[in-house]
Amino acid sequence: MRIDIATLFPDMCDNVLNTSILGRGIKNGFIEIHTHNIRLYTEDRHRNVDDKPYGGGTGLVMQAQPIYDCIQAIKAQHITPPRVIYMSPQGSVLTQGKVRELAALDGLILLCGHYEGVDQRVLDELQAEELSVGDYVLTGGELPALIVCDAVARLQKGVLPNEDAYSIESHYNGLLEFPQYSRPEIWRGRAVPEVLLCGDHKKVAEWQTEQAMEMTRQKRPDMYSKYLKDHAEELAEKAAREAKRLERRRRREEKKRDKLI
Ligand SMILES: C[S@@+](CC[C@H](N)C(=O)[O-])C[C@H]1O[C@@H](n2cnc3c(N)ncnc32)[C@H](O)[C@@H]1O
Repeated sequence: MRIDIATLFPDMCDNVLNTSILGRGIKNGFIEIHTHNIRLYTEDRHRNVDDKPYGGGTGLVMQAQPIYDCIQAIKAQHITPPRVIYMSPQGSVLTQGKVRELAALDGLILLCGHYEGVDQRVLDELQAEELSVGDYVLTGGELPALIVCDAVARLQKGVLPNEDAYSIESHYNGLLEFPQYSRPEIWRGRAVPEVLLCGDHKKVAEWQTEQAMEMTRQKRPDMYSKYLKDHAEELAEKAAREAKRLERRRRREEKKRDKLI
C-alpha cells in the first residue's frame, strides 16, 4: 500500500514517519509513505500558498491552485487511482472500522489543511472525502494524517510481528482489550491475576475474553451494548453450551453422590 501526505510542513510528518514501528515498517518496505510540500507547486511569484478569506474574517485560507497541482502530481505517480481524503474537523470521525477499510486500499492521498482551512473549490474539484480524528479543532491536518498513517500501517502485513498483535487489541472486534501485566509478579502488594500464571492456554483465553467484555461494559457501555446486539446469536449459543456443560456436571455430581449413599 502507498500513502501520500500533501502538506505545508513535510518535516513535521517525516520526523514521525522515521520513528519506531512505523519507521521500521516503511524502511522494510511493508508500506510506502511519501510526504509532499504543497508550497513547491505554487505558481505565485512570492511562493505564497494562502490568502485572506473572501467575506472577511481572521486567518488565511490555503489556495486551490497549489493544492490541486500537488494532488495531480501525486496521482500521476499511482498506477490505480488513489482515494483522496482531506483531514478535516468537519469529516466523519475516524474509527477502527474505517481504518480497516482504508488499510485494504492500494493508494491513499491525505491532504492536510492549515490556518483557516482550504478553499472549498479544490475540495469539490477533487471530490475529496473528509475525515476527522475527533470533535475538536487542531491547528493543522498533519497530526490527524499521521494518526491515519499509523493506524493503517499497523494493519499492513509485516509491520507488526503477526496478526494477533492487532486483532486482539481494543476496537478491532468491537471490544476493548483485556488488562495486561508484566514482571514482577507482585508490585507494591498487587499480584498478577493467578490464572495468567497457570500455564493453561484455554483458561487464560477464557479469562481474557471475560475481562475484555467486563472492561468494555465498565468503560464503554455504548460499545458494550452494540457488541451484545451485533453478537446476540453467537452469545446465546455460547450461553446455551455453557448451560449444557453445567447441567452435565450437575448430573455427574448427583450420580457420584448417589453411589456414595
Ligand atoms: C484550524 S483548522 C481549520 C478549521 C476550520 N476553519 C473549521 O472551522 O472547520 C486547520 C486544519 O487543521 C486540520 N484539522 C483540525 N482539526 C482537525 C480534526 N479534528 N480532524 C482532522 N483534521 C483537523 C484540517 O486539515 C484543517 O484544515
